[in-house]
This record gives sequence, C-alpha cells and structure tokens, in this order.
Amino acid sequence: MENRKDQHVAFALQQQAFQKPSAFDDVILEHVSLPHLNVNDVDISTSFAGLKLSSPLYINAMTGGSEKTKAINEKLAEVAKRCHIPIASGSLSSALKDPSLSESFTVLRDKNPDGLIFANIGAEYDVEAAKRAVSLLQADALQIHLNVIQEIIMHEGDRDFSMWKKNIEDIVKTLDVPVIVKEVGFGMSAQTFEALKQLGVKTIDVSGKGGTNFAQIENDRYKDEHMSYMNDMGITTVQSLKYSKDYQDEIEILASGGIRNPLDVVKALAMGAKAVGISGLILKTVEQEGVDKTVALIKKWEAEIKLIMVALDVQNINDLRKIHIQYK
Ligand code: FNR
Repeated sequence: MENRKDQHVAFALQQQAFQKPSAFDDVILEHVSLPHLNVNDVDISTSFAGLKLSSPLYINAMTGGSEKTKAINEKLAEVAKRCHIPIASGSLSSALKDPSLSESFTVLRDKNPDGLIFANIGAEYDVEAAKRAVSLLQADALQIHLNVIQEIIMHEGDRDFSMWKKNIEDIVKTLDVPVIVKEVGFGMSAQTFEALKQLGVKTIDVSGKGGTNFAQIENDRYKDEHMSYMNDMGITTVQSLKYSKDYQDEIEILASGGIRNPLDVVKALAMGAKAVGISGLILKTVEQEGVDKTVALIKKWEAEIKLIMVALDVQNINDLRKIHIQYK
C-alpha cells in the first residue's frame, strides 16, 4: 500500500496534462466591452455544503499512507492554511485498515487546526467506517470517491461494486457532516447524476477527464502494457458540467479535473460549479517549487479570477452563471 501511494505521486508528477489542449478551450465566455465594475468591488466568495468560503478554490484529494506522502501532506496543509482554502485528504482507506498510517493523514489537521478539511474514502466503506474517517481528521465534510475505472485496471482493485449505492445512501442519511461524492478524474455521465440524486446526494464534484489521468497512472505501475487501451476513457470536466445542468437546482456542483489556469476556473463557475478543485497542478507546484511559490500561485489565481470577472462585467460568483457562453 505504502509503495502504491508513492507510485501514484511519482507517476502523477510525470503527467504533462496541464499544458495540453483541453475541452475548456472550446468554452468561450462572452466579455463585455464596456464594463462598469471596479476590481476592488468584485467578490469571489462562495459556499457549498453549508460552508462559507472566501475563495472558490480548494485543494482536492490526493495522498497519505506513507512516510513520503506524509511530508507532502504537511506541505499541502501549510498551503491550505496560508491561503484559507479547504483541503481534502487522500483516501483514508490505508489508515482505516492500519492505524499506524494515520499520522500521514492527521498531519493535515495538526498543521491546520482551524482550516476546512474534507476526509476522503471510497464507496466500498459503510457508515461506521465513514464516521471513523471523519473523526480521524475532525473533518468538516466527507468526500466519497467513485473510481470504478481505476479499480478495474488495478490487479488488486475491487471487483465487487454491489454495495456502493447502499453505502452512499446510508452515509448521506446518517452522517452529521456534509457528504460530497466525487469522481477521480473520469467525469460523470447524466446517468450518474440521476443515480446520485436518487440516493439523496446533495453535493457532487464531477472531477472530469482532462488533467490527472488515473487510468494511465495505474497502467504505468505495470511492466507490460496491461490495460493501456483504457487510457482515453472518461468524460471531460466540461461535458460533465453540461450533464450537471439539469441537476443544478437540487444539487450543488463542484468542478475539478484538468484545471490549468484562472480562466478554466471562471469557465467552470460560469457553467454552474460552486467551487473548483485542483490536485495535480498543486502537487506539481508544491513538490517542484515549494510551499511559498504554491501560496503565491493560488493568490495570483485569485487576483486574476477577479480581473476576468471585471471583463465579464460580473460582480459575484452567482451572477457568473447568467453570462452568455459559446461552445465551439
Ligand atoms: C488523486 N485523486 C484522488 N481522489 C480521491 O478522491 N482520493 C484519492 O485518494 C486520490 N488520490 C490521488 C492521488 C494523486 C497523486 C492525484 C494527483 C490525485 C484524484 C483527485 O482528487 C482529482 O479528482 C483528479 O486528480 C483530477 O484533478 P486534477 O489532478 O486534474 O486537478
């Protein structure tokens, strides 16, 4: 397990998806040539799952479960704290099975005692495990990840998905913190949104294709080509957000997957997301350039999101949803 978590990080760092063309390039936000705002009056605060946030950005689920990933979580926690943005842990599966690995996750809370922290587990876990995960991090919300494509590619992955729906339904009903159901970079179909709505899920992170590619990461772990023909599977973040439109009145949508720059953030917000998660790019920045540069990058993005909103003549994130969008 320890080795697998380190391999995920190493292969994720090799991926160059963040410079590639993206489905976000086909989304054009119509600017206003005669705007009326002062950038100082633009408000980028938002809320979801009953949490109030000064910024629409959050650090999405990544890691924990080994000595190396503990050091990464320590740095990510400092970034989250200094930027006042939420952070999700990596899957707590390893710590739930082996308490000696807990510290590699609890460092997120120890370093950031007052911050917003999301605990992360897979849908194979029941209510009791979900409660343990939340309590371990004194988490403000629980993320449940859906990663079927990753599981079927892993030799040691799950093969029985028959309890996923029941577990999610029970956890949503029982837990006393908000529940966010997320993908892991493969996006969500219209059918998935419908199923999650039926289960009572109120907050969904589409986490679409376009950035970190977990099919490729799992295939990279094996010497043969294994199932590399699966590397193009997935629904882009943009397409997932389009599918989410029919559900946005009842379900809060979060966007993640392949966010490359502040314009992608604004596009996702204009398509209805309440906030935007970033993983791979933050991992790369913190590992290659350090904590100070990562904090500076997030602050630069927040300033530039405001500038873009001025050009769109939009003062707050709710109003962004009303602007006209062209799709190429
Ligand atoms: C992830 N991701 C992830 N997601 C999750 O729910 N639980 C997890 O344990 C992990 N582990 C993990 C490790 C590493 C190294 C990376 C880079 C990512 C997936 C992540 O939360 C996100 O959904 C995808 O990475 C897509 O976002 P980006 O990376 O394209 O911004």
